Amino acid sequence: MPSPRVLVFPGSNRTGSFNRMLEALVVRELRAQGADVVDIDLRDYALPLYDGDLEAAHGVPEPAQRLHALFRESAGIFIVTPEYNAGIPPLTKNTIDWISRVRDHGGIPAAFGAPLFALGAASPGGLGGYRCLMAMRQSLELGLGATVLPTMVSISRATDAFDAAGEFTSPSNAQAVARAVDGLLAAIGTRNAPAVAG
Ligand SMILES: Cc1cc2nc3c(=O)[nH]c(=O)nc-3n(C[C@H](O)[C@H](O)[C@H](O)COP(=O)(O)O)c2cc1C
Repeated sequence: MPSPRVLVFPGSNRTGSFNRMLEALVVRELRAQGADVVDIDLRDYALPLYDGDLEAAHGVPEPAQRLHALFRESAGIFIVTPEYNAGIPPLTKNTIDWISRVRDHGGIPAAFGAPLFALGAASPGGLGGYRCLMAMRQSLELGLGATVLPTMVSISRATDAFDAAGEFTSPSNAQAVARAVDGLLAAIGTRNAPAVAG
C-alpha cells in the first residue's frame, strides 16, 4: 500500500515559535511512521485578512486555491496552532476561512470532508492551547464537516518543554505526539482499507 500523504503546517510564523518546534517534531514522527509528509510554511501562502468585498472583486486569492488543492490531495492534515485569547489565532483561522471559500474542485467537501484531521498546540501557559483545540474542533467539525481525530497534542509550559535543539525535554510529550500520529495513520489505513467481501 502506498504511504499516506499527510499535510502538516504550523499556525504561527513567529521566529522561535513553540508551535513551529512542535510541528517539526510532528513531521519527524510522521516520517518515522511511514507517512508521505507535505510540510508547508504559511509564509509561502500569504493571504489578506478575509474581506467579502475583496472576494467579490477578485475572487479567492491564488494561495488559498493552492492550499485547497493540497487539502484535497491529502489523506490526513495535521494542524499545529497557538491559542490566542482562548480561541483560534488569526493566521490559522484566516487560512481556514479562505480555503472554505473555494467553491470549485469539490469545494468544502473535498478540502475538509475527505482528509482526516489531527490537531496539536503548544503554549507557555498551563492549558497547552487546549481551548483553541476545542474551538478548532468546533469550526472544522460543525462548520466544515471535517472528521477530527479524538487524540490531540497539547503541550503546556512550552518555555520548558523544548531544549535548545528543539527536542522535547519530557518523554511524555514525545509519547503524546507518537500516539496522535499513530492514531491518524491508523484511521487513514482503516478508512482506505478495501471492504471485506462477504
Ligand atoms: C493576542 C494573544 C493572545 C494570547 N492568548 C493566549 C491564550 O488565551 N492562551 C494561551 O495559552 N496563550 C495565549 N497567548 C500566548 C501564546 O500562547 C504565546 O505567545 C505563544 O508563544 C504563541 O505561539 P508561538 O510560540 O507558536 O508563536 C496569547 C498571545 C497573544 C499574542
